[in-house]
Amino acid sequence: MTGETSQTVADVRFVDCSIATANGWMGSDVGVAVSDGKIVSVGSVGSLPEAHREVRLDGNVLVPGVIDDHIHTRTPGHEYKEDWKTATQSAAAGGVTTVIAMPNTDPIVDRVDRVESVYETAATDACVDYLTHVVVTSDNLDRIPALAEADIGGFKVFLGITFGDIEAPTDGELHAAMGAIADTDCRLGFHEENDEIRAYLEAEFRREGKNAAIYHNRSRPPLAEVEAVSRVCLFADDTGCPVHMFHLSSGSAAETLRDWRHRGVDATAETCPHYLWFTEDVVRERGTVARVQPPLRTADERARLWSVGIDGGAVDCIATDHAPHTDEEKGVGDPDKSVWETPGGFVGLETQVPAMLTFVAEGRLTLPEWVRLHSTRPAQIWGLYPKKGSLQPGADADFTVVDPDREWTLDRTTLRSKSTATPFDGERFRGAVSKTVVRGEIVYDGETVTGTNGYGELATGD
Ligand code: DOR
Ligand code: ZN
Repeated sequence: MTGETSQTVADVRFVDCSIATANGWMGSDVGVAVSDGKIVSVGSVGSLPEAHREVRLDGNVLVPGVIDDHIHTRTPGHEYKEDWKTATQSAAAGGVTTVIAMPNTDPIVDRVDRVESVYETAATDACVDYLTHVVVTSDNLDRIPALAEADIGGFKVFLGITFGDIEAPTDGELHAAMGAIADTDCRLGFHEENDEIRAYLEAEFRREGKNAAIYHNRSRPPLAEVEAVSRVCLFADDTGCPVHMFHLSSGSAAETLRDWRHRGVDATAETCPHYLWFTEDVVRERGTVARVQPPLRTADERARLWSVGIDGGAVDCIATDHAPHTDEEKGVGDPDKSVWETPGGFVGLETQVPAMLTFVAEGRLTLPEWVRLHSTRPAQIWGLYPKKGSLQPGADADFTVVDPDREWTLDRTTLRSKSTATPFDGERFRGAVSKTVVRGEIVYDGETVTGTNGYGELATGD
């Protein structure tokens, strides 16, 4: 009998909270019991097994851990901007329990040994769980089958030039690559911008000496994104390759994606909080700091990104495109900085959950809808569900605990990233991360990152 009793005692219970999943709310006086880093049961506190330890969550809301499928850790090659330690500390403080890294490092991640080397670094440095995407270029089409076997998130093609200057494969190579990826279990994501339109317009503006930040927006119009979404979906329709649109920025592109999906193409999409929060006005106000590719859009494009993307369901998930660059590189305090000499992107790991909670507070979406976008769908898209992205018994005990009512203003000097330039500096939020839990361990307690470097593990679906 004693043996039986001890088996039913869990390691830890998380109580004094309400719980939201993608399927809806569970009432108050609920909790989660966890053993060996896995969920044992979820329900009313009275129904949970006893536990050796109890963590009280002060009446906050517990949701399945947020997954960010799009971060730039800058390692290897650009460690002065960010590294796996600082990126994942920022993730923990931002309520993110799993990150998927982007391959535009130096060297780029385009071969199995480079995937292994990224995972060696992450194994010693990461304090949350991790994966990496792998780039497809003209040079590695023959490596696609081996890479697909290597525990990657997915593949990525950069159709538009961005940080790292990775050239796009030709359309012929892309079509062949998509045929090869269709034979694997992987999905191919895109930086979807037509680079010939970008190159032509950028050259014109440079020639005319138009260096103000807004000309970068004009060099990458919604048409460049719409064309790339259409081309990708056309190739996906022909090859059967599942595709994903990273950082979808415009309502026009969301409409195009919706139409292709109606035709049966397996195409998923993410957008980023900055496309939902800002319009291109912030580029006029804050200058080069707000440069990002694809760029921030007009109020009309943003409105249609909300209506077609979020309300209409064309957008599956939210991710940051966390892209650290130093103050000097971003032209902080330098109004004369040429936008053409400024890299695109800014940090986002610690602002994405507060931004999304602010939208919830404003009634733009519900908490369960947010959980679906920020946890459940990314887990499904990258093959991690239900181990991640759910609160099912047996799933990893990854939780983001939030205080939906806390109002606060961002002071970027408090961010954990190595680089902190962001147009969100000084923005006011309603909603904050109060704890982050990865496989049952508290990695952020509301003030301090308590997760140790090396605690993070490779995230797999099995
Ligand atoms: O603005 C961006 N910055 N867009 C990207 O696609 C890449 C990113 C980076 O790596 O800096
Ligand atoms: Zn990116």
